[in-house]
Amino acid sequence: MADRHVRAVDAGRALGRGEPPTRLLFVCLGNICRSPTAEGVMRALVERDGLQRRIELESAGTGSWHVGSPPDARAADAARTRGVTLEGTARQVRTRDFVEFDLLLAMDRENLRELRRLAPHEQARGKVRLLREFDPASAPHAGGELEVPDPYYGAERGFDEVFELVQAACEGLLAQISVGEVS
Ligand code: 4NP
Repeated sequence: MADRHVRAVDAGRALGRGEPPTRLLFVCLGNICRSPTAEGVMRALVERDGLQRRIELESAGTGSWHVGSPPDARAADAARTRGVTLEGTARQVRTRDFVEFDLLLAMDRENLRELRRLAPHEQARGKVRLLREFDPASAPHAGGELEVPDPYYGAERGFDEVFELVQAACEGLLAQISVGEVS
């Protein structure tokens, strides 16, 4: 209940001029495929809606293997085809992310479990969610799949699918933040 209140307040801040922005951290395993795609897609949506001062975002990985690497070329190509540029270099999740961000958005249940394990306390654990929970078509009541599948060892088509899944979820997330309904 306390967590729900904190999140509702955080989401409401996105609407108030002069208030601190809502801060989102997209998280996958390597921070080179799924979470940079989510970051790029959400940044494009935020710019489309002129919300740059209200919503801030970054991405990170639970693993350290790719720290310092740019987004995977296959992910960057899939995004570029759809008019989205992926930027930045990979970094690993750190403890202060649980303080600095309002929501930590996991791509799959493994990321979710790892983030919950890393969370320093109960309130921090309450900030961790699966990104696709925010896609109205995959919400639990719709019986939908809630994970963004790992495309790293799969076929090229996987990167197109990742982009489309992430885009639907980010649209839903932005809509919920905009009306203060993130919970
Ligand atoms: P990501 O994809 O978690 O979406 O960035 C992966 C990238 C690298 C590896 C696994 C998944 N890897 O095993 O190196």
